[in-house]
Amino acid sequence: MAFGVYVHIPFCEVRCDYCDFATWTDRPHLIDDYVEACIGDLDQRKESGTVPPASSVFFGGGTPSMLPAEHLARILDAVDLAGDAEITVECNPDSVNADKLSIYRRAGVNRISLGVQSTVPHVLATLGRTHDRSNVERACAAVREAAIDSFNLDLIYGTPGESLDDWRRTLDDVLALEPGHLSAYALTVEAGTPLAARVGSSESPPPDDDDQALKYEIADQRLRSAGLDWYEISNFAADGNECRHNSLYWSGDDYLAVGCAGHGFTDGRRWWNVRRPEDYIARIESGRSPERGSETLSKEGRDDEALMLGLRTRRGILADAVAFAPAAALIDAGLLAAIDDRLRLTLSGRLVASEITARLVDFHQPVDPDLTSVD
Ligand SMILES: C[S@@+](CC[C@H](N)C(=O)[O-])C[C@H]1O[C@@H](n2cnc3c(N)ncnc32)[C@H](O)[C@@H]1O
Ligand code: SF4
Repeated sequence: MAFGVYVHIPFCEVRCDYCDFATWTDRPHLIDDYVEACIGDLDQRKESGTVPPASSVFFGGGTPSMLPAEHLARILDAVDLAGDAEITVECNPDSVNADKLSIYRRAGVNRISLGVQSTVPHVLATLGRTHDRSNVERACAAVREAAIDSFNLDLIYGTPGESLDDWRRTLDDVLALEPGHLSAYALTVEAGTPLAARVGSSESPPPDDDDQALKYEIADQRLRSAGLDWYEISNFAADGNECRHNSLYWSGDDYLAVGCAGHGFTDGRRWWNVRRPEDYIARIESGRSPERGSETLSKEGRDDEALMLGLRTRRGILADAVAFAPAAALIDAGLLAAIDDRLRLTLSGRLVASEITARLVDFHQPVDPDLTSVD
């Protein structure tokens, strides 16, 4: 049985214009205490005796590569690992070098995920990114030099002003780096971000659905030709390079969240930690739980969630898990394909996945909302 540990690192050098993740640019002074708190949290969980060895660990953020590499290694050291665990660190292309990556490698890290987004200068400028294409090339060379075999590149498509040729150029540039895994996300305008302000004041057009759909189709075709096939709507990999950690989210396996704003799922209970790093540190230092809230899904709620997540994957869902009539209509419309006893989204289906999910799944509310928010 897979079991994952997600470690959230809530620090960035600069906040990108589109990002609303739980990350801060003005708190590097908290880094040392935060690392101690993550280790303390893991120790407390281990003492409870209920944490199985991790088959995957994912350092996400924020910018985990902003931590001194030795700090990251100490957190990893506090995790009880299964043999051959997958250990990923999300890195920004301009905050990694071969020395840092070698320390990661020695600590057991075997997968790097780089936030590239685009290689086209005006697109990166609109996104508020600080790196350029040469940083990305240097970062990939450093990953190889450190003998870390597996890496992912994150891309964003549909940025205002990005032409179809800009997107094709980004795809060509990143494919030239021969990644085993690529994530491609449609840009979403998140409330409260500088991008949302520009869109709100009409300084910038909002992302266009048709443009994003076309870019998804272009990506699917180019990536497939390069040997990277989709295995989840936004994720493409060469055979055997699928991310095991992300896959456990989609299969409904258990995972622990360490760090502020992390979400965990254990024993049918979903829970989330306090959002701010200073609150997380204070909770752990005083021996309290870092959890801010939790909910327990009903059996129906869990089934619905399994369907919703399963439908996003290439594996799809069991045909008899959904009602016959709507499924047959979606097959006739070319949006779902029946393969043996399973249903899988077609390429056209992947473009309207939320609509298809809504037609197939009856959503049930949690029966036991146990919201324990105290701050
Ligand atoms: C939270 S970031 C962490 C990785 C790293 N800090 C970086 O950005 O280079 C993870 C990924 O989420 C994606 N992402 C974040 N905000 C997004 C948005 N508003 N729309 C689409 N993708 C987004 C980006 O592709 C990003 O690489
Ligand atoms: S996208 Fe990555 S680097 Fe940019 S603010 Fe968000 S977490 Fe930080």
